[in-house]
Formats: sequence, structure tokens, C-alpha cells
Amino acid sequence: MKVFLVSIFCLVASSSSFISISNILKQTTDTKLLFRKPFITGNWKLNPQTKDEAIELATDIASTITPESPEVALFVPFPFIECVQKAVGDKLQVGAETCTPEDGGAFTSGISPAMLASIRVKWALAGHSERRTINKETDEYINSQCVKLLDQGMSVILCIGETLSEFELNLARSICEVQLKKGLAGVSADDMLRVSIAYEPVWAIGTGKVATPEIAQSVHAECRKIIQDMYGEKVAEETRILYGGSVNPELVDGLLAKPDIDGALVGGASLSAAFGRVINFQPLEETTLID
Ligand code: 13P
Repeated sequence: MKVFLVSIFCLVASSSSFISISNILKQTTDTKLLFRKPFITGNWKLNPQTKDEAIELATDIASTITPESPEVALFVPFPFIECVQKAVGDKLQVGAETCTPEDGGAFTSGISPAMLASIRVKWALAGHSERRTINKETDEYINSQCVKLLDQGMSVILCIGETLSEFELNLARSICEVQLKKGLAGVSADDMLRVSIAYEPVWAIGTGKVATPEIAQSVHAECRKIIQDMYGEKVAEETRILYGGSVNPELVDGLLAKPDIDGALVGGASLSAAFGRVINFQPLEETTLID
């Protein structure tokens, strides 16, 4: 198992020639070492266009995963879920890009959490900015998706993030606070074990304008404080907050080095086997991975 620790580990490690994982975990509360397994995820969106291409892409990505790789999930179009599951076996999780928060009935094109669970889908996205904008999904609707997925025993990545004009008005924290509080309304502390957050600044999605590691870190730290206000310190320290927005093999190491960036939600760069380099990111000096 890999353990993802922040830079403070270096201070601890330097004062001891050998330190075991159990020692580190015992020191977690006292020294504020973090214990969150990195989570690298790909969002294929409306790609690729055929089942054969999906199987080939998934197979290529799965072949880059080793026992040392972090946890990986691919969010793929509904028609490809089962063939991709078959292609990747247990190397990675295959998730859904959205769901319909209804139990059944007259909702043409709907896909319910129960349907997803019945084909062994564990993860789904909720609140992606493209769904918010193109499909006019509101915070209330996104909240009902989260609640239904969790009720079904599934896990959810709640996506949040501000637009460029909001960023320029210094509103990133406020927007994230609203989206977190509304999106997670009614979600219990226990259920938070099955929730990850993806901070995806809208201005960085598909634009090539990646947030600098410093900008992303500062918003992630704010989000963790908001989660702490909502659920307390333990939940805040355990919740993984992923960064999304133009992540690529060149930028991933710098982003993942930051203490509050626990993984990535990757669009364009998850559409080729080069995604393997993102999956197997190389922690820089601020982060240490320990077996
Ligand atoms: P890009 O990585 O293509 O910017 O997309 C990010 C995203 O929207 C992931 O959900």
C-alpha cells in the first residue's frame, strides 16, 4: 500500500534512520502528517467514438498500472462501462460520468444509481462544470445525485470550481464554499468516507491554462477548511481533494507535490496511453510516497 505524506514527513524521517508506517500513522494526529491515498482519475467525456476504441484505450491505460501506482479510476461514457470493466479487470475502477437522481419512472434517458450499482459501478461524478453549464444542473440537483449515489452504497466525486470572472474577482473560495455546502447537504460524516472532491477551476478546463500549483494548493487548503467547518478535523484530513483542469504529464508532479492536492481529475490527457505518466506521477520534494 502506498501512503501519501506531506513534506513534514521529511523532517520526521530526517530525525530517524528508520520509520515504519505504523509509527508514522501513530504520529498523524500529533504531527499533522496526512494519510490520504493518491487518487488519479480520468474523465473521458464524449470520447472515444466506438466500443473498439474504448477497449483499446482502456487496455493501454491499464497496462501502465503497476502495484506501486496510486488508486486509479476512469469515468467513461455509459455504453462503454461494461466493456471497459472487462478490459481493465481489477487494475482500476470504472465509473460513470453522471447519474439521474431518481429511483425510476418517466425520466427518458435517465441512468439511476441503482442501475449503475447493478453492473458493479462504484464511482460516479457529480457536479462537473460541463453538466452545470450545458445541462443546467443546479446545486440542488447535484446534491440529490450525491445523496442517491451514497444511499446506493456508491462513492462520488463532487466537482466544484469557479469561472474565470469569479476567479478574477477573488471569489474562488466563496464559490467553492457554496458548491460544497449545497452539494453535500444532508451527507453525513460517515458517508464522507465515500466522497472525494475535485476542484476544477472552469477557466482551466480544456483551455491549457492550468492553475499553478500554488493557486491550486491555496484553494484546496481553503476547501479543506470548509470541510473541517462542516464535518470536523478528522473528516477534513481524510477527504481527498483532487485537482482538475489541463493536467498533463509535464505538470502533474508539481501539482501533486502540494500537501492538499491528493490526486487529479484529468480530461484530455486521459485519452491516450500517455495518461500512464500522470498515473505514475513522480512526487517532488514536498511529497514523499512510502511503501
Ligand atoms: P482537461 O484535463 O481536458 O482540462 O479536463 C478537465 C476536466 O474537465 C476533468 O473532469
